[in-house]
This record gives sequence, structure tokens and C-alpha cells, in this order.
Amino acid sequence: MYHWQRTVFVIAFLLCGRAFMGRAHAGTADPKKQPAGIDMKKVERGRYLVRIAGCNDCHTPGYLLGEGKVPEHLWLTGDKFGWRGPWGTTYASNLRLFVNAMTEDQWVAAARLLKARPPMPWFGLNSMHEEDLRALHQFIRHLGPAGEAAPAYVPPDQEPKPPYALFPSPPKEERK
Ligand code: HEC
Repeated sequence: MYHWQRTVFVIAFLLCGRAFMGRAHAGTADPKKQPAGIDMKKVERGRYLVRIAGCNDCHTPGYLLGEGKVPEHLWLTGDKFGWRGPWGTTYASNLRLFVNAMTEDQWVAAARLLKARPPMPWFGLNSMHEEDLRALHQFIRHLGPAGEAAPAYVPPDQEPKPPYALFPSPPKEERK
């Protein structure tokens, strides 16, 4: 092989590699900005868990009513839609900011102990397996931080800004 042929071969090889990597990340975070220590197998598992565990239903604007057709780069950015009930009014937090501010170990500890107001199903998150919690962290790190903080909690005696869903108090005799 002539020297120039080898050079052309090497350049073509490098270009193919770049094109392939670009496609693998298409539509998600920029591959050049991937944080260190990201394992794409765990990212894939995290993406699957976020989809089936329903986190997007509340934490991604428009996801529930849009039948899940929200581009991934907007996932888990929190919502301005309020959930009002006897507990006050809550807003699904921006998990892209919340989770990216923590190390993987901090997230595992926080998810295990989390208690939050309705309608957050925190008891489900508390019992998630450690490897699944780690996969969630990897996926959210892969997406990177984005968006703004969700509106602050409004206590029951204060009027929240619309839009919000209003939950009536369940009848006492049916609560056992
Ligand atoms: C039915 C709606 C709903 C679903 C489903 C849901 N969340 Fe939440 N989540 C909320 C709301 C609302 C809050 C804010 C609660 C509060 O203010 O106390 C919240 C809070 C949180 C918090 C606390 C964040 C903070 O700022 O303190 C974490 C972490 C969290 N959710 C993770 C998840 C994960 C992970 C999933 C999927 C496994 C999930 N949530 C599913 C509605 C939901």
C-alpha cells in the first residue's frame, strides 16, 4: 500500500466512525458534551425506565395529553401545571436540574428517602432497585441540565395561579 493510500484509508475510517457516533446520539444530547463515566447501556435502561415508570407523565410538559410524543431533549424539565388538593398546590419538579446537581450516590440515597406531597408516587421511587436508580441517573446525566425550576409549592390557604387540576378531598368513611 502506498503511503497516500494508507492516509486516505485512515481518514475515511475516522470519518465513518464520527458519522456513526453522530447517528447513535441523534436527537438527544450533543455527543461532544457527554459527561465522563457515561455507560450507554445504562442510559438505554434509564430511558426505558423513565418511559414505563411514568416519570414523564407529570415531570414533562405536555407528555400525558400529547400521548407521549414529546422530543427527548424536553423530557423531565418540570411543569407549570399545578396539582391542587387538601395538601396545597404542587408542581412536578425539574428533574434535569435536580438530578444533575447530584452525584450518582447522592441520588440513590435521596431517592431511597424521598417523601413528597401528592401526586408524586414517592413510595414507588423509594423501592426502586439500586441499579435502576443508577440507570436513571446515567440517563438524566446523558440528557444534561435544561429548563427552569418549576413554580414553588403553594400552601392550601393560598390561591395558585392557573392552570391547575383540583382534587376534591376523598370522603372520610371510605378511607381505611
Ligand atoms: C402523578 C404525577 C407524578 C409522577 C408519575 C411522578 N412524579 Fe415526581 N413529583 C411530582 C410532583 C407534583 C412533585 C412535587 C411534590 C412536592 O412539591 O412535594 C414531584 C417531586 C419529585 C421529586 C422531588 C424533587 C424535588 O425538587 O425535591 C423527585 C426526585 C421526583 N419527583 C422523581 C420522580 C421520578 C423519578 C418519577 C418516575 C419514577 C416520578 N417522579 C413520577 C409528580 C409526579
